[in-house]
Amino acid sequence: MKKRLITSALPYVNNIPHLGNLIQVLSADVFARFCRSRGYETLYVCGTDEYGTATETRAREEGVSPEELCSRYHAVHTEIYEWFRISFDKWGRTSTPQQTEIVQSIFLSLHAQGFIRERTIEQLYSEKSAMFLADRYVAGTCPKCGYTDARGDQCEECGSLLDPTDLIDPRSVMDGTRPVIRETTHLYIDLPAILPRLQAWMAEASERGRWARNAIRMTEAWIRDGLKERAITRDLKWGIPVPLEGFEDKVFYVWFDAPIGYISITATLTDQWEQWWKNPREVELFQFIGKDNIPFHTVIFPSSLLGSGQDWTMLHHMSSSEYLNYEGGQFSKSKGIGVFGTDARETGIPADVWRFYLFYNRPETSDYTFTWDDFQEKVNGELIGNLANLVNRTTTFLTRFFDGALPPEGAAPAGAHHRQAFWNEVRQREAEITEKMEWAGLRDGLRRIFALSSYGNRVFQAAEPWKTRTTDPEGTHLLLADLVYLVRDLAILIEPYLPATAERIRLLLGAAPGESWSWDMLGEPRGLSRIALPEILFEQLSDELIQELRDRFSGSQADRARRALEADAASGAKPGSPKGVRDGKPGAKSDKNRKDHTVSENTVSENTVNENRPDGNAANEKIEDRFAEKVELRAAKIIEVEQHPEADKLYIERLDDGTPEGRTIVSGLRGHYTPEELLGKTIVVVANLKPAKLRGVKSEGMLLAASSGEGDQEIVDVLFLEGVEPGSRVLLQGQERQASPEESLKRLKADDFFALPIRASGGTVFVGETPLVDAGGNPLKTLRVSDGAVG
Ligand code: MF3
Ligand code: ZN
Repeated sequence: MKKRLITSALPYVNNIPHLGNLIQVLSADVFARFCRSRGYETLYVCGTDEYGTATETRAREEGVSPEELCSRYHAVHTEIYEWFRISFDKWGRTSTPQQTEIVQSIFLSLHAQGFIRERTIEQLYSEKSAMFLADRYVAGTCPKCGYTDARGDQCEECGSLLDPTDLIDPRSVMDGTRPVIRETTHLYIDLPAILPRLQAWMAEASERGRWARNAIRMTEAWIRDGLKERAITRDLKWGIPVPLEGFEDKVFYVWFDAPIGYISITATLTDQWEQWWKNPREVELFQFIGKDNIPFHTVIFPSSLLGSGQDWTMLHHMSSSEYLNYEGGQFSKSKGIGVFGTDARETGIPADVWRFYLFYNRPETSDYTFTWDDFQEKVNGELIGNLANLVNRTTTFLTRFFDGALPPEGAAPAGAHHRQAFWNEVRQREAEITEKMEWAGLRDGLRRIFALSSYGNRVFQAAEPWKTRTTDPEGTHLLLADLVYLVRDLAILIEPYLPATAERIRLLLGAAPGESWSWDMLGEPRGLSRIALPEILFEQLSDELIQELRDRFSGSQADRARRALEADAASGAKPGSPKGVRDGKPGAKSDKNRKDHTVSENTVSENTVNENRPDGNAANEKIEDRFAEKVELRAAKIIEVEQHPEADKLYIERLDDGTPEGRTIVSGLRGHYTPEELLGKTIVVVANLKPAKLRGVKSEGMLLAASSGEGDQEIVDVLFLEGVEPGSRVLLQGQERQASPEESLKRLKADDFFALPIRASGGTVFVGETPLVDAGGNPLKTLRVSDGAVG
């Protein structure tokens, strides 16, 4: 049995994690607890990711040193994870001497192996602050639309992609002075040169480690689109010094050092860390991350390790989760929207209830939206109505009618074959649960545990013990014993998910305090003799509580802070103690901290914070409304198709979209359509999508196509329209909100677009339950793919 090394993505230190961020840390926790219960030698490490521009900037804004800022937030994180009962073997941080030592030594090995290059580039520099400016720290007037606060990477007003040098009257966001152009030299990791090693490793590892589909696809796309050299140094102070002559003023880029944090955090636990990290034959590495971090864990970090020429423990299985959204929008750290780790505790709802809900709906294969209604429904219906109900009814019955005692062991008798059938069924289901959990199928695992509990409830119901206890007391006693042992098994199975509840059930079933149960006891109904007095495991979530929480957590943190201040003012209380902010605790967020954080971040984010928020009810069902408010689809005619000079799979298409200028888009249709098949056709374009550069060519929107299958098997089916004018709208059937068809909607980020799925079903194209129709009122149809995603 190999040892299991488990990591969850190191959270950025300079923010308070929200429920969406907590999923990874929690997932690795469930898996680690499962592995320990199964008897694997297990090590779970995690810690805060502390270096880099974001921390340095935030510290400057708050007028503290980066060290101080990190320590303060590290403590906030620590408190949250303790409350959620995360069972780290080591919870550390990246700003340690061990990190410096290991990062520098991996770098020097890469250098010795010939995988480091030097390049000189031009960058904007502030003489006043004596620092180079990252693109988004340069502001100025947009050359396209005249907006005076455009950023060096993009104009938020008109959406144009920019280079900082395009800006008219550029100024440093840090100090307001005009930056100058300066040369700077950086070190690059030569990923193309390491690629053969990476590909050989990945081909095998992804199969043996059963990587998730999203991980394999994204990694292949990265490799296919051509790996480039990547800069691994920065002109900053807050980072790890580069141990090379001429680079004394630079530090490593945070994404180069952060993954090495997994290793150095282990080194702060034990000087035997190489037993874990340089031991690929005896250790399997399981990593839990969000989908936005995939390439760093499948390409960049593995390349650093492979390029060092040493025999590192490499990624075995990767569990990458999708996004958790919050009632009608996205959880957002920068906008302060959603439920944060500190908030969860302040609701008074126990950690296990949160853990239950987060895993019951873990966004494993698609995004999931948290809503308060759904939370209430799942907790009351499943956690309480199913699991707690089984625990309660069996223990109460046994207590009331059999004095809480189990029948003596070996009492088999009447109806013994029923017991056989019962335990065969239970063991069968337990084996399936184990198999799921072995590969971190945590949502499926939990759902099957609840299905097993539900099976127990059905058996109880069907046996009608309240009748048989007088007609067949012995048989009834045995039935109850089986159900109590099932409850015991359920306590073992849910321990990884709901550790506190498992502990309570253990005590309820007569275990000694501190006694632990493990996976190998499953399916063996023996060992219990007398149970303790039943108690209620959970409180129902009432309508009033849910309504109160929905109100309390609506809007951004800034809104919430403001409402709390107003409430304080109204009640005459001293300001500065809004509900939920604890005073006087080290590391607890202060009111000041909370507000500064939101305000400063809002200045760099868009002003879309509170618009279009449905009022909380049934956000999951309102996809059509959100779609209508956000997405602008228009017919457009393809008038030119050319091959993208830099990319095999891409075409550049000129479109007549009804405007005098027309527009250009880039799409990955090569191999699926010839230029002739596209030319002259009318397609559907997402007209308000933010422009993006695809391999150097600007794409102003994207066309809609359905697809099914993957890799070589993938079928792509462009949606073609007939008999409609270029520029005419494509709308949801019966869409009422449409103001004028000429109206343009606010620019849409790709992420927000993909969060509103379009699907082909039976050859018709739907958003939610509603078909999309062209200007003639005809539903959009597919040709080649009858069922599949459209994007
Ligand atoms: N700090 C990053 C984030 O929160 C994750 C870093 S993962 C690591 O998105 F591998 F770099 F550690
Ligand atoms: Zn502009």
